[in-house]
Amino acid sequence: MTNEGKVTVLLSGRGSNLKALIQQQRGYRIHHVITDKADAGGLTIAREANISTTVVRREEFPSLATFKAGILSAVEATNPHLVALAGFMVVVPQEFVARFHGKLINIHPSLLPHFPGLNTHARAIEAQHQEHGCTVHFVDTGVDTGPFIAQARVPLLADDTPETLAARVITREHTLYPWIVRNIIEGAIRLDERTVRYAPHIIAEARTLGYTTFE
Ligand code: GRF
Repeated sequence: MTNEGKVTVLLSGRGSNLKALIQQQRGYRIHHVITDKADAGGLTIAREANISTTVVRREEFPSLATFKAGILSAVEATNPHLVALAGFMVVVPQEFVARFHGKLINIHPSLLPHFPGLNTHARAIEAQHQEHGCTVHFVDTGVDTGPFIAQARVPLLADDTPETLAARVITREHTLYPWIVRNIIEGAIRLDERTVRYAPHIIAEARTLGYTTFE
């Protein structure tokens, strides 16, 4: 594989999406992991897979703005082809979004635009939605906004708790995210201004895999 396939992952937590991305590496390479939390479970997963890591701690910077600039520098230093946020709890600034236009994606555990932010599973149950799921999108300066790439849906069952629902959703996250990362790296999915463009075979493949696309 050429250098083209280099993916840098940013995370703050347990890293189950990172693990899925590592396990399903094909057509791309998880090259580096960056976190703001020195105790993130995802760091251990990266180290066990011999992936280099950087910890950028908020406490080391005099302000939120310099901290965020520090994250951007750390990402730039890895020279990635794609930056994948996977449970990264820092809102990235405009400069970051502009620098990585079309190369910065996020996974979120809801069918956006429903339930941006936290506690999505409890909120979906509370709202008595019939279905729930996850969304992968290109990142803009909002929280869980930006052009949607694809969604995976799950049914919401009458006896669901936030935990049972979360378990059903995360299973779909673990296949949706690697599929999208691979297809962006291969040029089959791309961002054109604010419109997501798909190669024709992607639409058919998404249908087979049960994913919703946004043509
Ligand atoms: C996932 O639910 C993802 O959608 C959200 O944060 C969570 C990260 O989980 N952005 P993990 O650390 O990958 O297990």
